[in-house]
Amino acid sequence: MNVLVGVTGGIACYKACELVRCFRREGHAVRVAMTANATRFVTALTFETLSNNPVADDLWTRGHQYNVEHIELAKWADIAVIAPATANVIGKVANGIADDLLTTVVMALPEETPVVIAPAMNTRMWQNPIVQRNVETLRALGKYHFVLPRVAELACGDVGTGALAEPVEIFHETLRIAASRASDGGPAEHPAS
Ligand SMILES: Cc1cc2nc3c(=O)[nH]c(=O)nc-3n(C[C@H](O)[C@H](O)[C@H](O)COP(=O)(O)O)c2cc1C
Repeated sequence: MNVLVGVTGGIACYKACELVRCFRREGHAVRVAMTANATRFVTALTFETLSNNPVADDLWTRGHQYNVEHIELAKWADIAVIAPATANVIGKVANGIADDLLTTVVMALPEETPVVIAPAMNTRMWQNPIVQRNVETLRALGKYHFVLPRVAELACGDVGTGALAEPVEIFHETLRIAASRASDGGPAEHPAS
């Protein structure tokens, strides 16, 4: 299966490394798309090494072997996983904003390609009615599936809901969603490529 992992600019970025490893260990192909802010937390080099593929982090990069990278990535993916997902990116996707490579790929995904979103943020951000409304907007569309944040001591020192779900949980949930889509008669997965 071809898995697109979207990484956004939260402190839990480093946990996306383990998520990529989970998919790779099981023989899935992984390509990573990062927001510019995600690259402040973990370098693209780390994800390139773990995924064994180039990282997509710039909508305007030239010189790739394919012409329009965001469209090619959107076609390539059998499933997309955004982990960690910031409040910002959830808001953008919920409102149809596509102003960087990751959000543009998400917007360009075929209707049948599921998107798994694992939010991670400070408790007050998570409980903000705007964030909750954006989550509900996406959930109602059926295509977007949430792996909800855990209660934990957060990086900021607060204790509450907002910690990224464990990578292994996100991994299993992604496989479950991909399998249920296949049993619903969705298009055949690409062999990992
Ligand atoms: C140290 C630090 C940690 C942050 N952690 C989070 C986080 O866990 N979740 C979140 O939604 N935003 C977090 N932010 C704020 C985001 O980085 C900010 O909203 C940014 O615009 C997100 O950009 P992106 O969604 O394009 O990656 C953090 C900011 C800093 C400076």
